[in-house]
Amino acid sequence: MRMVAVLAVAALLGVSACGSGDDDTPPPSTVEVFTWWVEGGEKAGLDALVRQFTADCPGQRFENGAVAGGAGVNAKRELTQRMARHDPPDTFQAHAGAELIDYIDAGQIEDLTAYYDSWGLRGVLPADLVADLTVRGKIYSVPANIHRANVVWTNPAVLARAGITVPPKDLTAFIADLAKLKAAGVEAPLALGRDWTQLMLLEAVLISDLGPTGFSGLFTGDTDWRGALVAKAITHFTALLSYGNLDRDALDWPQAERLLIDGKAGYQLMGDWAAADLAAKGFPGYGWFTFPGNGKAFQWSADSFTLSTGAANVTGTECWLKTVGSATGQQVFNAAKGSIPARTDVPSTGFSPYQQSAMADWKSGIPVPSCAHGSACPQAWQTAVNAALTSYSSGKDGKILQSDLAQAADLFVRP
Ligand code: GAL
Repeated sequence: MRMVAVLAVAALLGVSACGSGDDDTPPPSTVEVFTWWVEGGEKAGLDALVRQFTADCPGQRFENGAVAGGAGVNAKRELTQRMARHDPPDTFQAHAGAELIDYIDAGQIEDLTAYYDSWGLRGVLPADLVADLTVRGKIYSVPANIHRANVVWTNPAVLARAGITVPPKDLTAFIADLAKLKAAGVEAPLALGRDWTQLMLLEAVLISDLGPTGFSGLFTGDTDWRGALVAKAITHFTALLSYGNLDRDALDWPQAERLLIDGKAGYQLMGDWAAADLAAKGFPGYGWFTFPGNGKAFQWSADSFTLSTGAANVTGTECWLKTVGSATGQQVFNAAKGSIPARTDVPSTGFSPYQQSAMADWKSGIPVPSCAHGSACPQAWQTAVNAALTSYSSGKDGKILQSDLAQAADLFVRP
């Protein structure tokens, strides 16, 4: 977009846009930041980060390149097109872990290892996270946060009307509570959305049925996608879907969340960006619990920011990344975003009760990655799984779903 605009202006002025050799040309002072954070708690988080960037980086201006769509479904497509026409944003949001490897292998993002050293990031980020961010000895992004995916959000008033006052202890108890809600007249007790949100639900069920180690092994080749436990999880998943809204495939996560806010559903499984979003949308009285049967598993993902190869404004982007990685940047951003700081030295004061509980769980929990949010699998794998779930959602053949999932793993698992 921006390159097209620059070319158009250059043409009007009758100058060459590339390599004019004019040393008096001032360096660009806008940093285009590409995310999928456009509304509610997500926008509130981005706005807080931008305010900090403006204070930290005098002379630099934020340019919003956001593309709407939960989990970046549309943004990632748009980013691919921009990369193909050599028009990258200065920096873009990408999940730490497997998702970044595609950009690294394609030579689309720069090595930021030297910044880690000069900004002292290694000592203040968890060693496991730094290891997850390191590819062939180099680090290519700065994490802004840690999100948790395996959380169920509740509308306590709806649950109370059906006599439900305590969180279910396992999947069987959860399904029994969903049945109670249905019997109490709640048409769709579990708010559901499109493909990637269904993948989140399936992943949560897989964690319960396979345990954290078995689940993580699905993405390393150590656990068999064709096994009996995966079949069992698909049966549980199918039971859960039967308590959801029928228009699930047409809804993004905020629309499914609306069913919860409006009392049309009692529960929604969603990442903890929901904590900020529910508050931003005037529903601070939500309840939450870890997905039943997940025990101490903390399914994490981390939004991180990159420096694109060929970025127009490298100096400004460096300053953006420094703010993203700073203690103050992480404090203000995460307080508004629902996630917790990736840095370990940010005080917990000023964070919501949910976030304080997530901070404690992150310290004591068992980390497991997420395929829906890029820490476990690269994008092509995620796309294949989402497609399998979309066809399952209309066709409902569990055997075909399991075989589609297994075939996707055969193609993408990195030995
Ligand atoms: C995730 C991302 C979160 C949030 C969510 C919903 O992939 O890590 O920050 O934006 O998507 O859109």
